Amino acid sequence: MTSTFPPDFLWGAATSAYQVEGAVDEDGRAPSIWDTFTAERGMDSGADACDHYHHWPSDADLMAQLNMNAYRFSLAWPRIIPGGTGPVNRAGLAHYDRMVDGLLERGVTPVPTLYHWDLPQRLQERGGWTNRATAEAFAAYTDVCLDLLGDRIDTWLTVNEPWVVSVLGYRLGLHAPGEKDLRTSILVGHHLLLAHGLATDRIRERRPTARVGIPLSLFPNYPATDDPADVAASWASDGYTNRWFLDPVLRGHYPADTAELFERLIGPMDWVRPGDLDIIGNRPDLIGVNYYTRRRITASQDELPWRVLPAQEGVPVTDSGWESVPEAFHELLVRLHRDYDVPMLITENGGVWNAQPDSDGRVRDTGRVHALREHLRALSRAIDDGAQVLGYLHWSLLDNLEWAEGYAQRFGLIHVDRSTQRRTVKDSARYFAAVIAANAVIDVSDQSEGRS
Ligand code: FCB
Repeated sequence: MTSTFPPDFLWGAATSAYQVEGAVDEDGRAPSIWDTFTAERGMDSGADACDHYHHWPSDADLMAQLNMNAYRFSLAWPRIIPGGTGPVNRAGLAHYDRMVDGLLERGVTPVPTLYHWDLPQRLQERGGWTNRATAEAFAAYTDVCLDLLGDRIDTWLTVNEPWVVSVLGYRLGLHAPGEKDLRTSILVGHHLLLAHGLATDRIRERRPTARVGIPLSLFPNYPATDDPADVAASWASDGYTNRWFLDPVLRGHYPADTAELFERLIGPMDWVRPGDLDIIGNRPDLIGVNYYTRRRITASQDELPWRVLPAQEGVPVTDSGWESVPEAFHELLVRLHRDYDVPMLITENGGVWNAQPDSDGRVRDTGRVHALREHLRALSRAIDDGAQVLGYLHWSLLDNLEWAEGYAQRFGLIHVDRSTQRRTVKDSARYFAAVIAANAVIDVSDQSEGRS
């Protein structure tokens, strides 16, 4: 059976500002929480990254050569309003103005994310996402972006992965700003959702024909056994990772089971004010699906009553050890369609395969080629099963700064040599280009025989 895709499907790749731009001190940009966090901990930073700030024209040429018709990138709040609130930095805005025009000239639809984790440090000094005023500041920043780019953007993405921000940034301390407190992480999650809701209102009001969506990190949870305790733990973990964000955004309320668990652990969530869930529940036009792997769950006596098991024997893993499970992607999309009846855009999917150039200069990232083919097959099947999917944006265009993991993890379709900034199109990118040209999943051998 051939796996095909709808006409007008969006095909492309994704990045985010701090992970690729570099040029952190240029044209009036101020520090973000990620500049501070990486400096404090002596980690790899985004100071130079892929220097996409300067290389974007040739990077956009590559996108066009690879048949991509869409590009997801993020706007850096600390470039546009360096203080978080207050004066707008025209030079920062001008960068995105030029880039959006440059993409359109090349036939690439710009899909900007308003917030991909680089909070202006000056807002952090006023409490960052623990402060409700940050959500208001985000709405004002959204207005500035709409003023500048609104006439050329038809799909806006608001807040990237509120679950990852709240859990890695505020419960596990692995991401900026590095806090470790369950209560704070739940509070922050609410303010991120509020920011999404307020921005959605602004976009609707100012640009009624534009589509707006929120990219969520979604993890299908599977009980490790059919023991009822594991089954219950898996559903609880689903509430924590998925429904805590899907339900308020698409149904206007937090899921009761997860709310009960949280209130038992942290007391009343008194930061949820009357009317907040109306703002948050102003249904977006689409959900951005960021899918990488599944979670296998077993019951536990921990504070959160489940545990995520390591990769199962026999299941293929990426070079970072994540299980590669295309079938879970299919099940996730069908479930989202069934439970929420919402259009979807795949805003991230991919994995780490660290292949380097061989002596002939070619990057044979066979693992990514195979995973890409199988995930696209799963996606096509989900569309056949009724899921409304508008496009597929692979994470990532370039090897880049993988946050706390630094540059060691390569997610790119395009290899980046850090010392020279030289780009090399990997085998996976060539395969992807051939799929896009066919608007169908093709065999790997068809592509390597040069039929793209
Ligand atoms: C997601 C992030 C993205 C990238 C991928 C691998 O959680 O949104 O920036 O780091 O994971």
